[in-house]
Amino acid sequence: MCLAVISSPMMDREHKATKKRSRKTQISPLKPPVSKLRFEAVTLCVCVLLLTSLASPAQSDIEGRINALLGRMTLEEKLGQLQQLDGEANGNYRPEHIDLIRKGLLGSTLNVRGAKRTNELQRIAMEQSRLKIPLLFAFDVIHGYRTIFPVPLAQAATWDPATAERAASVAASEARAVGLRWTFAPMVDIARDPRWGRIVEGAGEDPHLGSVMARAQVRGFQGRDYSLPDRVMACAKHFVAYGAAEAGRDYNSTDMSERTLREVYLPPFRAAIDAGAGSVMSAFNDLNGVPASANPFTLTRVLREEWKFDGVVVSDYESVRELINHGFAAGEAEAACAALSAGVDMEMVSRLYGKYAAQLIREGKLLPATVDEAVRRILRIKFRLGLFDKPYTDEGREQAAIFSRTNVEAAREVAARSVVLLKNEREVLPLSKQVRRLALIGPLADDQQNMLGSWSGDGRKEDVVSLLAGIKAKVSGSTQLTYSKGCDIEGDSTQGIEEALRVAREADAVVVVVGESADMSGEAASRTSLDLPGRQLELVRAVIGAGKPTIVVLMNGRPLTINWIAQNAPAILEAWFPGVQAGNAIADVLFGDVNPGGKLPVTFPRTVGQVPLYYNHKNTGRPPDPNNKYTSKYLDSLVTPLYPFGFGLSYTRFRITDLRLSAQRIRANGSLSVSVEVENIGSRTGDEVVQVYVKDVAASITRPVKELKAFQRIMLRPAEKRRVEFTLAAEHLGFYNRDMRFVVEPGEFKVFVGPNSAEGLEARFQVVEE
Ligand code: NOJ
Repeated sequence: MCLAVISSPMMDREHKATKKRSRKTQISPLKPPVSKLRFEAVTLCVCVLLLTSLASPAQSDIEGRINALLGRMTLEEKLGQLQQLDGEANGNYRPEHIDLIRKGLLGSTLNVRGAKRTNELQRIAMEQSRLKIPLLFAFDVIHGYRTIFPVPLAQAATWDPATAERAASVAASEARAVGLRWTFAPMVDIARDPRWGRIVEGAGEDPHLGSVMARAQVRGFQGRDYSLPDRVMACAKHFVAYGAAEAGRDYNSTDMSERTLREVYLPPFRAAIDAGAGSVMSAFNDLNGVPASANPFTLTRVLREEWKFDGVVVSDYESVRELINHGFAAGEAEAACAALSAGVDMEMVSRLYGKYAAQLIREGKLLPATVDEAVRRILRIKFRLGLFDKPYTDEGREQAAIFSRTNVEAAREVAARSVVLLKNEREVLPLSKQVRRLALIGPLADDQQNMLGSWSGDGRKEDVVSLLAGIKAKVSGSTQLTYSKGCDIEGDSTQGIEEALRVAREADAVVVVVGESADMSGEAASRTSLDLPGRQLELVRAVIGAGKPTIVVLMNGRPLTINWIAQNAPAILEAWFPGVQAGNAIADVLFGDVNPGGKLPVTFPRTVGQVPLYYNHKNTGRPPDPNNKYTSKYLDSLVTPLYPFGFGLSYTRFRITDLRLSAQRIRANGSLSVSVEVENIGSRTGDEVVQVYVKDVAASITRPVKELKAFQRIMLRPAEKRRVEFTLAAEHLGFYNRDMRFVVEPGEFKVFVGPNSAEGLEARFQVVEE
């Protein structure tokens, strides 16, 4: 259904809040949000005119140029700016692009890349089109362009925003060198369901960690100004709640309360936009009955009115046409009308805006001002990108800029920092470089292709250092290294297992490398099982049965259910998909040149039946009690995870003591300092991630058992001790009350500080009325 006047889908629900306490402090602050929401009908053309506060002179100059240009554009040319079309997978443009560009009917491409090719197309826009509006070249540069870094989930496992920023800035500089100006990253979808394959593309399950990583990546891609020569414009995607796909099945519908949306799924988008992200991508999913690519509540109310976002919203791939499949639009014209009116400025791949907008305007169903506003936003980012003044890419720079030595070194360091040590019994790790006979076993042990992960940009298999190559380069000349594949990643053959067992028996130590193939996570890669695929578990069992010190290295794009391995393997390293420097980085960790310091950005369940399993759940009225049947648990599994969110070990040990709060009582708009003493009590230098969680003990809306609010990754030498301090402020203590106002309620709070979400010290403080 498309009308020029549209009601908010989250319809009027003026809750009559029964107030638990006499007064609540409304915060209109820092992050949040958000003023009172009145869900009255809203005329979208009015909304869009409310936008844009034009502060800087440069900005007002841009607005002047946009107005001048808009005044000269025909409706056809305006609609041309709203169109993004796909190139070929190899980076070529398509023959039809040339004519469309000449006529001013194409504003942007995706997948066209290469300095020469982009320049060729740009020249047509700049020299042969009537208005000489430059093209905007986009591509999915997610975890690297040619120098492929670890997958985003792995980068989140670093718990180190500086590392994620560094990876994004290398990716940006390479992308820019090949003519790209826009990346469809970061993906900031929260994912609580590891069946959903796209969990690999984001920062995991937590809104705080997700927000920190979102900000870091936007900074990395865009720098302080995305027009700078080595930067590209970022795109926060997929707006919104795409990660909540029912049953973890990709593209599936989502249905959630506005509170969950605001507290869990929206914050990383807000963080990306606050960090200056120039664009947002609307998602494929249905959200509470209104598809995200035609949802005025999220796209206009939240994004434009509350957050004052003045950049571009691009649809996801054909998500405008898919409104018909959703059953939200009766046909193509209605789909175009609904998406454009709701706030999707640019249409990716489907071509319904260009085909129907004129007719819709004639029929009075679409406001001309809506089209103008979408064009305005697109021109605005083209100006901000500096494209009108410098439309071309220096073809001479391309070769030197990509896959440079320094970029490759960065990939190695980031990959090593993302490794999570899950188990290390009797200090099997690190291995000695002098080990006499080392066996390397498993289908991923000498793999190159899968190391690239789910979005490999223009990464090449031959650029990848396999683990076998990495270990060869690391061990001493006298080490005898034997390799046996054992079995495939998938498939039923067990033929190679016997040979692998023989190799294991003859070794002094064994490294067995198992997991998923890269295409088992990512888009359209949902699974109903989280077990190791194929016969890999049999392989691991056989190899561990040889009785040698055995290290299991996992490579995967999602949490896996690895109970047997967790119980029986002496050591486990979670390596994710580490990118081009996989082998070197993992060898750095295996042999102790790098002490692993990553932590899980997502809960590892024991069984897929526990999913969704996330640490920041509610307590229920009957929290699990092993001695009481009638409490919230399972008959056939523990309720606890196999590994909790935030978990990760080190080759050294840390002691966290002396939790101190700067006050026992604070006002609702006040703040509090929380500090602990962290000491390295082992014998190696290592990293600890100190994590701060909060719980509002009793509130007018039930609150999670704990919520991450701050963290810091620190490095300590043996015997070194450091006090680590954090500040908790209103933004960390508040929530959306029954009126959907962000409030901090007086009452008791708990604070937990520790090395993961399940362990740590605890203290309490009171928030008091003002
Ligand atoms: C579809 C994916 O959902 C999105 O993440 C990606 O950016 C676009 N395709 C373009 O490749």
